[in-house]
Amino acid sequence: MINRTKVTVVGAGNVGATCADVLATREVCNEVVLLDIKEGFAEGKALDIWETSPVNSYDTRTVGSTNDYAKTAGSDVVVITSGLPRKPGMSRDDLIATNAGIVKSVTEQILPHSPEAIIVIVSNPLDVMTYQAWKSAGLPDHRVMGMAGVLDTARYRAFLAEALNVSPKDIQAVLMGGHGDTMVPLPRYTTVGGIPVTELIDADALNAIVNRTKKGGGEIVQLLGTSAWYAPGAAAAQMVEAIVKDQKRIFPCCVRLTGQYGLSDLHIGVPVKLGAKGVEEIIELDLNTEEMAMLHESAKAVKEVAEVLDGMAV
Ligand code: NAI
Ligand code: 2OP
Repeated sequence: MINRTKVTVVGAGNVGATCADVLATREVCNEVVLLDIKEGFAEGKALDIWETSPVNSYDTRTVGSTNDYAKTAGSDVVVITSGLPRKPGMSRDDLIATNAGIVKSVTEQILPHSPEAIIVIVSNPLDVMTYQAWKSAGLPDHRVMGMAGVLDTARYRAFLAEALNVSPKDIQAVLMGGHGDTMVPLPRYTTVGGIPVTELIDADALNAIVNRTKKGGGEIVQLLGTSAWYAPGAAAAQMVEAIVKDQKRIFPCCVRLTGQYGLSDLHIGVPVKLGAKGVEEIIELDLNTEEMAMLHESAKAVKEVAEVLDGMAV
């Protein structure tokens, strides 16, 4: 039996179209469906991506859909990027009501056509949108996750590579917590070609990179007037690849905690193993007192937004 793999990306805007492009160009799956509410928009983006196939030499078929969920039927993974992006001066939390309504409606429309799908949320504010999708979907915890840690870690690794003048490929790092200023990069778990980063860079320079990482999203917003898309789209595609190809990769992802790290009843970023079943394992690091305190501080911030969401009629 030949298994064809299909991925739907909802929202054909900056992040969604980039994600679809990476999925196609890297031949992560056989078919990518790009869906958007704007008439003709997803069809146009999907056609443009498909027309790169002879040039970039791949055969993943990319098709577009204006809100016709029948075309998404049988998707193995669904990436939800639909929602408003953050504008200058706007916090991620300002987005909550609008994007929660969108995430809920998309989740409810996707599942009847793809009951086995694994859902990857990108829409902001990320941690609570993942919570919203989990509530709306009613799926087991391991099938609903959010993308933020792969992006935030990529920023951290890119900044370190620049500072150390080394290849970003050789930098391994872990970052935990919510997708926001309270995120917790972990220098103690950062290595460069296997060497602890603390042996290669002084504490002040490392601290500056940690702080830049925490504000990495805002830095792009200030420069572009809207939020990032190349790195977020590629990061979501990397998670999809780990699932579709059952790679058992270890990535920081936003998942539901049920007692790990002394936290429960919330979705937040922690290292996990990603494979065909989705979140196959939550990895519990032996955090020191300071790291654990930062994670709990971040959890408090996420919980506050989740409570705002719980108080809204979405
Ligand atoms: P965008 O505005 O370029 O694209 C969003 C698309 O969603 C638009 O094309 C819009 O028509 C579509 N859309 C809106 N409502 C819809 C619905 N009900 N059904 C289907 N499509 C719908 O925005 P961009 O830059 O692609 O960002 C998308 C989201 O991702 C934002 O919420 C942004 O804040 C978030 N984001 C999250 C990141 C993360 O690390 N988790 C990183 C970057 C962005
Ligand atoms: C980012 O980190 C805004 O969440 C978005 O780029």
